[in-house]
Amino acid sequence: MPGDMKSAPIGVFDSGLGGLTVAREIMRNLPRERIVYFGDTARVPYGNKSKPTIVRYSRQIVRFLMQQEIKAIVIACNTATALAIDEVKEEAGIPVIGVVEPGAVTAAAVTKNKQVGVIATRATTSTNAYARAIHAIDPSINVISEACPLLVPLAEEGWLHDRITDEIIMRYLDDLLEHDIDTLILGCTHYPLFRSEIRKLIGDKITLVNPAYETAKGLERMLAACNLENEAPLNPDEPYPYRFFVSDEAERFTEFASSILPVDVKKARIIPIEEY
Ligand code: DGL
Repeated sequence: MPGDMKSAPIGVFDSGLGGLTVAREIMRNLPRERIVYFGDTARVPYGNKSKPTIVRYSRQIVRFLMQQEIKAIVIACNTATALAIDEVKEEAGIPVIGVVEPGAVTAAAVTKNKQVGVIATRATTSTNAYARAIHAIDPSINVISEACPLLVPLAEEGWLHDRITDEIIMRYLDDLLEHDIDTLILGCTHYPLFRSEIRKLIGDKITLVNPAYETAKGLERMLAACNLENEAPLNPDEPYPYRFFVSDEAERFTEFASSILPVDVKKARIIPIEEY
């Protein structure tokens, strides 16, 4: 593998802001890697759209990212992973990792009573992607899924610690708790932002699995396996080791990104993604 390929950025994409929770874990856990992030802020949410639409959007984003000379792709969106990972792999022709499998592998490893809960968008739960990935490892694990569509707008409004949010979370989790789950997968990019709130509400007996973190660790293994890890540390004076692109509302994006990332995001460029 030529040296310049190893120093090429990772392409990370999501339907909008949520994938920044995955980008954050990559920055924390793989500090040598450059990132090109695309957030499809004009067409978010993906969570209530059909498979053909999500496949079309994902292919367009891959075409854009490939022009940025990336070395690998992270589908930092549970919905796009659940509905379009095969098509993304086919379109990209470079190593691709989604968020579902890394989360599923960890959940299957940590559950003791084999009762695993998954919270996600409607589109993700409708594919049973987490259950399929877990059953490929251990078919005897019982996977109970709950679509929680109200949590994405609450996260984007910044209502992370709020009485109303607590009530909505508990309403969604009631059924899962009745199944006596010992493991809960936060199967949507926005849900790790509610992690401490969920922990406060359900206590510490249930293991919370954060696919964003597991994906960063999975990316590390994938880059090593493909001999693609960047060897040199990033130079602190490098102007743009992390570049951000969106399809709309760049200002709102940079504000949100700066609030959750360990770096200050000064600008995001708007891309006419429908043209790809
Ligand atoms: N990024 C999506 C996911 O992880 C949530 C937001 C959306 O519905 O587009 O499923």
